Amino acid sequence: MPQKIIIDTDPGQDDAVAILLALASPEIEVLGIVAVAGNVPLPLTEANARKIVELSGQSVPVFAGCDRPLARDLVTAEHVHGKTGLDGTDLPDPTVPLQPQDGVDFIIDTLRREPAGTVTLVPIGPLTNIATAFRRAPDIIPKVQRIVLMGGAYFEVGNITPAAEFNIYVDPEAAAEVFAAGAPLVVVPLDVTHKALTSRAWVDQMRDLPNRCGPAVAGWTDFFERFDTAKYGSLGAPLHDPCTIAWLLEPDLFQGRQINIEVETEGRWTTGMTVADWWRVSGRAANALFLKDVDRDGLFGLISDRIARLP
Ligand code: RIB
Ligand code: CA
Repeated sequence: MPQKIIIDTDPGQDDAVAILLALASPEIEVLGIVAVAGNVPLPLTEANARKIVELSGQSVPVFAGCDRPLARDLVTAEHVHGKTGLDGTDLPDPTVPLQPQDGVDFIIDTLRREPAGTVTLVPIGPLTNIATAFRRAPDIIPKVQRIVLMGGAYFEVGNITPAAEFNIYVDPEAAAEVFAAGAPLVVVPLDVTHKALTSRAWVDQMRDLPNRCGPAVAGWTDFFERFDTAKYGSLGAPLHDPCTIAWLLEPDLFQGRQINIEVETEGRWTTGMTVADWWRVSGRAANALFLKDVDRDGLFGLISDRIARLP
């Protein structure tokens, strides 16, 4: 039976690769894609999600969720992802329609309809939609199979502030509520995604694929790389969001530890920090699997194999 998932996303070039990876993998059934405000505002993230679905040749419903964080002004990341959020590969305006149903209601209705424990939530942007769904319908929380989210950092520290990773920083109140909700959590932080760096050879391999998705991935990762190269001096773009889907497909590619993670919402300098108790000194109950290492070659081999299967 394929793993049923809902992807909650703020495309974003790395979101796009994650969505394509999921849509290319028969082990996964994407029940729906819900856009959230994050890398760029919601009108762009929802249109980008529809463009990516259209590029994939698959038919998956796309919904729009929340257009701003629970309690703060929206912070976006055009400096990383470009004005459109998908700079690097130009895609035509989507003909795939946006679903009329509110994206948060789609999450609620799907979890209420499907058998308990059979739907995994995969948030790869700010956690606003997930927290709003849990606030609006607390009865769905025990029905969630697990949440596999890209977000947070500990040893790697922050990427949008010295202490915080972007997805958590944009909506720390939402993140704190999701981390405290009690649903099984798999956290894919910068600690592991900064080891998932593209190489020139891999991007060239994508560009040379005899389909349309390979060259699109090459254009996105080429664009996306420039920010990290300028900031960290690292060669290669970190494929943050695809690591969530890769974990679902091949969890043995990753190593991590079941620990307690709390989200700082009141720190003067540390708001949005994920306080990961890696050394288990707090005595607080473990609430998440915190991933720290990845078999990089295995990861990129998996992504290459799946992108090659797309149109
Ligand atoms: O910090 C990386 C995360 O922020 C990724 O999900 C990227 O797409 C951006 O949303
Ligand atoms: Ca993202």
